[in-house]
Amino acid sequence: MSTNMKQKPVLIIGGSGVVGSRAARALRWLQPKLPITIGARDQLKANALARELGGADAVKIDLERQDLGLPPGAAYSAVVTLLKDDSLRSMKYAQAQGVPYISFSDFVFDIGPAVAHYIHKPASAPVLFLGHFLGGTVTLATLHFAREFRKLHSIEISAVFDEEDVGGPAAQGDMERVAKGVPNPLILEDGKWIWAHGDDAVRGFKGVDGTQWQGRAYPLLDVPSLAAATDARSIRLDFALRPAASRPRGQGISHEVIIELTGEKQDGTTGRVRHELVDGDAHSGLSARGVALAVERLLGLAGGPPVAPGLYNPEGLLDPAYVIERLRESGTRIQRA
Ligand SMILES: NC(=O)c1ccc[n+]([C@@H]2O[C@H](COP(=O)([O-])OP(=O)(O)OC[C@H]3O[C@@H](n4cnc5c(N)ncnc54)[C@H](OP(=O)(O)O)[C@@H]3O)[C@@H](O)[C@H]2O)c1
Repeated sequence: MSTNMKQKPVLIIGGSGVVGSRAARALRWLQPKLPITIGARDQLKANALARELGGADAVKIDLERQDLGLPPGAAYSAVVTLLKDDSLRSMKYAQAQGVPYISFSDFVFDIGPAVAHYIHKPASAPVLFLGHFLGGTVTLATLHFAREFRKLHSIEISAVFDEEDVGGPAAQGDMERVAKGVPNPLILEDGKWIWAHGDDAVRGFKGVDGTQWQGRAYPLLDVPSLAAATDARSIRLDFALRPAASRPRGQGISHEVIIELTGEKQDGTTGRVRHELVDGDAHSGLSARGVALAVERLLGLAGGPPVAPGLYNPEGLLDPAYVIERLRESGTRIQRA
């Protein structure tokens, strides 16, 4: 994992935010010498983080401008956009520079314009969709557990977040966007795509401590990613909020993800398997680790050579076993229940 001393900085737009600052720290932990540029409006905050990281600086970003407000000679090794860039100017900037781009805030109904920009210039840059749950880590974990099966029938992902685990203003804006409920959540049911509503959009599930939750389907990119990567005929991801008042005394914010798979196992028997991921932290931690792992892979600093131009989902870039190992190392409890 040696870093070329001449490597240009990774530009993290939104790098001073709740997820962004943790992604920058996670990347610094993985790649001690990789130059990083924190892009944001508030330079005081961005500069303070850059000083803390070392080998980093800060730039003011203006998403109203085609050049993002950056000087003409500016050059980066990747552009990571950790906020909803409605203009997609940051994506076009990365394509113009011919460097990898990460889109982190797109729900399943958001990706049309980015797909069109990719199709328009397919050879310009690698573009990674990473709006997936917890920075792609859940899809990768699911594919790791799926290796036990010869043929998958269904994938049910359930999650419980603390109601106070809301992220920063940008994340709250995104939640409001979804809550306005323009499109219904997308699920795959018995081989057919459904924009679920009414009873189809809710599902009961058992939490890690046995609590029974009522989850609501969520329009995340994990569902189409897993449909493309497996032969499961039913796939969904449902989400419940734990009231802060029900948190055990003295326990901070935490979250859990349950991955239940049914199908034909390698030995020919049919069965259901349940895996649980428990992280004693806000969800920005796992999400940030997903970003950092994706950046080092895109740049060719881990897991293979620099990634060629193309349109990618996380499972097209990262090895599920490697990611599980990294998550365990950083404290996520992963168990087969
Ligand atoms: N895929 C996933 O796993 C996942 C997980 C969690 C969150 N998210 C998404 O990640 C995004 C960030 O969430 P967060 O909780 O980190 O929010 P946040 O704390 O509000 O961070 C937003 C960051 O973007 C900067 N920013 C905001 N508007 C800007 C603009 N117009 N131009 C330039 N910089 C701007 C902010 O700095 P200044 O205010 O100084 O500009 C800050 O650095 C949200 O879109 C959220 O939905 C995705």
